[in-house]
Amino acid sequence: MIHLENLNKKLLNAQYAVRGKIVIRAQELEAQGKKIIYCNIGNPQALKQKPLTYVREVLSLVEFPKLLDNPEFQKGFHPDSVRRAKYILSQVPEGVGAYSQSAGIPFVREAVADFISKRDSIPVDKNRIILTDGASKGVQSVLFALLKNDNDGVLIPIPQYPLYSATLTLYGGKQIDYFLDENNHWLLNEKILTESINKAIEQNINPVAIVVINPGNPTGAVLSYENIKMIVNFARKYNISILADEVYQENIYDENSKFYSFAKVMYDMKVEDVPLFSFHSMSKGYYGECGHRAGYFELRYIPEDVLEQFIKLQSISLCSNVVGQIATYLMVSPPKPGDESYELFIKERDSILNDLKEKARILGEGLNSIPGMKCEFPQGAMYAFVKFDLPEEKGVDIEKMSAEERKNYEAKRDSAYCLALLEETGICVVPGSGFGQLPGTLHFRTTFLPPKEDMEELVSKIRKFHLNYVERLKKE
Ligand SMILES: Cc1ncc(COP(=O)(O)O)c(C=O)c1O
Repeated sequence: MIHLENLNKKLLNAQYAVRGKIVIRAQELEAQGKKIIYCNIGNPQALKQKPLTYVREVLSLVEFPKLLDNPEFQKGFHPDSVRRAKYILSQVPEGVGAYSQSAGIPFVREAVADFISKRDSIPVDKNRIILTDGASKGVQSVLFALLKNDNDGVLIPIPQYPLYSATLTLYGGKQIDYFLDENNHWLLNEKILTESINKAIEQNINPVAIVVINPGNPTGAVLSYENIKMIVNFARKYNISILADEVYQENIYDENSKFYSFAKVMYDMKVEDVPLFSFHSMSKGYYGECGHRAGYFELRYIPEDVLEQFIKLQSISLCSNVVGQIATYLMVSPPKPGDESYELFIKERDSILNDLKEKARILGEGLNSIPGMKCEFPQGAMYAFVKFDLPEEKGVDIEKMSAEERKNYEAKRDSAYCLALLEETGICVVPGSGFGQLPGTLHFRTTFLPPKEDMEELVSKIRKFHLNYVERLKKE
């Protein structure tokens, strides 16, 4: 028999809130016939977002090339999809059932380099692109490579996406929390960063990197050019690498916000002595192809022998999934004007992005109108991190609690709230403690992915629930 005590403690200690206890309960309730609105995870196609036609056309043809031999079958596809499938298969004559080179198929890496170069007007070396099974695997490779021992630490935002905290627990690095500034659109704050890193250094932790998520999950914030410059200077001062998680770069809804990549800002600043790892993925944007596990990372300002180690690490799992690599190719080279599927692509893309923008508005306006609830209007990404107030519990004095006790107490409170919300309304959100939150505050994270017609209902259900819940607590 194998028991928990036989397992790696690091695995037992790792926490991953977005798929935690509340989601398991939601699945139980669903099995009993209750309607659940899943707002716990950025999984757009699970919430009825349609895949883009050109992506699926090309992928089907590449998966089953026999279709290309039959003119009758081809009639069902846009001619440019047929041409593209033929081109892809000319580059990968062995098809998608064979392993590829470890870092990925060369023409896909080249297309990714081209995409970044055009997006940012900067030179990009295709040999410094590694194709991965989603952004997650890239992040894990970089963290694995950077952590030399348990005392090495990585600065991660609070609130954060729990991939980072969980991976640090798994690999044995120290988590150096830095709070995002909720009172200043969730931007990074130099004073907070400096205090966090200095506190870690005092505790003999050796900081090796900083993680920045832009646009933010769970905050929905889009970083300004100036804020990114400040972060680059900070990383340079403390001699640490930057992990730029840019998976939501296409998800910007606020007219006054613009996505700037770290690669672009660093190029403009002429900073070449800060290692930069930038991540992108096909799971988000208007693609939402989470299940294809398609992604890449770019490595800048690192020497050749270090690059070789990253490619060796990738080679230990042979390569990322090849269909995902082809999907990544399609993400970075969508149909162009003149292609037969171009108009449909634009229509599908704009419809998804406009829908998300409208849903962000419905959520932002709706939740901010609930007494005792407040959230930053989501400027980007797919989430709002919503602050809510609860009456103090009788007989509980949080001032007398240690920091750890208080954290656990607040985690119990936001979890109880989210569980009650689920039981009473069927809405599944994630407690703020799963992402981290400033002591003395309570939050939950919700996506704005459910269909538009469900969003108004969602907001009104949350309103009714929240007001009732607060009344109940007051009477206890
Ligand atoms: C900030 C952030 N980074 C990375 C990921 C993981 O993306 P992927 O599906 O590409 O692994 C997510 C998924 O939600 C995310 O929110």
